[in-house]
Amino acid sequence: MKKTKKSGRGERALRVRVKTARGRKTGSTRWLERQLNDPYVRRARREGWRSRAAFKLLEIDEKFRLLRPGLTVLDLGCAPGGWCQVAVAAVNALNDQSARPVGRVVGVDLLSTEPVPGAEIVQMDFLADDADTRLTSILGRRADVILSDMAAPMVGHQQTDHRRTMALAEAVFCFAEGVLSTGGAVVTKTLSGGAPPEVQQALKRRFDSVRHVKPPASRMESSERYLVAQGWCQ
Ligand SMILES: C[S@@+](CC[C@H](N)C(=O)[O-])C[C@H]1O[C@@H](n2cnc3c(N)ncnc32)[C@H](O)[C@@H]1O
Repeated sequence: MKKTKKSGRGERALRVRVKTARGRKTGSTRWLERQLNDPYVRRARREGWRSRAAFKLLEIDEKFRLLRPGLTVLDLGCAPGGWCQVAVAAVNALNDQSARPVGRVVGVDLLSTEPVPGAEIVQMDFLADDADTRLTSILGRRADVILSDMAAPMVGHQQTDHRRTMALAEAVFCFAEGVLSTGGAVVTKTLSGGAPPEVQQALKRRFDSVRHVKPPASRMESSERYLVAQGWCQ
């Protein structure tokens, strides 16, 4: 591994070059190099976030003001837990030192997630037949915010990837119908092009506002964007 110093504004940029090692594929070397040179990865490590994805939610929340103390948040596709950490901090933020935190965060993922202090983690497939019933019962009350950073495994065929990711987003909105509290919000990942116009029209009939956003922490080369729907009218 070789570090090359470059003068930069603000944080000094140290470009790390990774040599291809025996047994390591070129793709893995590229991934490693990108991770080592990504300022969000470095910042996440420094600030104790589980993933660089945490910054995407922080930036989305900065813009849309979705997370507030006391809210119940469901985080779908939560591993390794960056969004859960952000949500726990936001819903339990205390104005009054004597007050007890009252917010709740439930994280769900196919994969196992290291426990996130303050969040309840459930390992399950959101697309399983019994997922809606199980999650509704785990929540036990309506959710104020439903977050989904779930991504279908990419196959590299643009239309297929888009269709599968949109299918996940639509499943999130279908589930939200039964559990979202009045005025609640949903954030879901979409790919380039975002939600098709007919889906956006349908959402606009049920939410006060429907917007797409690409937070600065989302990599330029990634086609991901987030659909933010706020003000659910039951
Ligand atoms: C981009 S990662 C989420 C990163 C997370 N927001 C964070 O801040 O650490 C997407 C996650 O979605 C999960 N996922 C994809 N499909 C899923 C499904 N059907 N049910 C549950 N989780 C799913 C994947 O296992 C993966 O961990």
